[in-house]
Amino acid sequence: IKMDTIKFGILTVSDTCFNQVKEDTSGPKLQEEVKKYFPGSTFYKKTVPDEVITIKETLKSWATYGCDIILTTGGTGLSPRDVTPEATRAVIDREVPGISAAMITRSLAVTDLAMLSRAVCGTRGKTLIVNLPGSAKAAVECFGFIKSCIPHAVALLS
Ligand code: MTE
Repeated sequence: IKMDTIKFGILTVSDTCFNQVKEDTSGPKLQEEVKKYFPGSTFYKKTVPDEVITIKETLKSWATYGCDIILTTGGTGLSPRDVTPEATRAVIDREVPGISAAMITRSLAVTDLAMLSRAVCGTRGKTLIVNLPGSAKAAVECFGFIKSCIPHAVALLS
């Protein structure tokens, strides 16, 4: 069944990780978490800088390669370089605001700072794209809040 073979993309968006100033912990942690709940899933993985063009290109090519769901981590906040939501909005056909709402609502029970994430979620063709915050803690928490909708979302899109 489809659920066991979901194709995930995990895109770390971070200048410091891209420039190897900092090690990416969010991408690997997220992959570990995804494997736990969706064993047998496959992965595209990449780290890109906080640049709209690069983020857009990666999202578009992974959608073309047949990714079922792309999880981005990072760049959703208010720093001048945070552009992941803008890049995502530029490539999706349809927004799925309920996923963003679920993340914010549930995250507010953890920290008031959840207000500062501008995460955008939506579909491009048959691919669901979900923005997660950048810290490993926040990314894993938010994935936990939305993972239950993934099998049905993937089924609806196929
Ligand atoms: N959501 C959860 N569940 N847990 C968190 O720790 N951190 C917040 C928020 N959402 C957080 C969270 C913080 S501190 C910020 S600045 C925003 O996500 C945006 O993070 P980003 O810029 O790394 O994407």
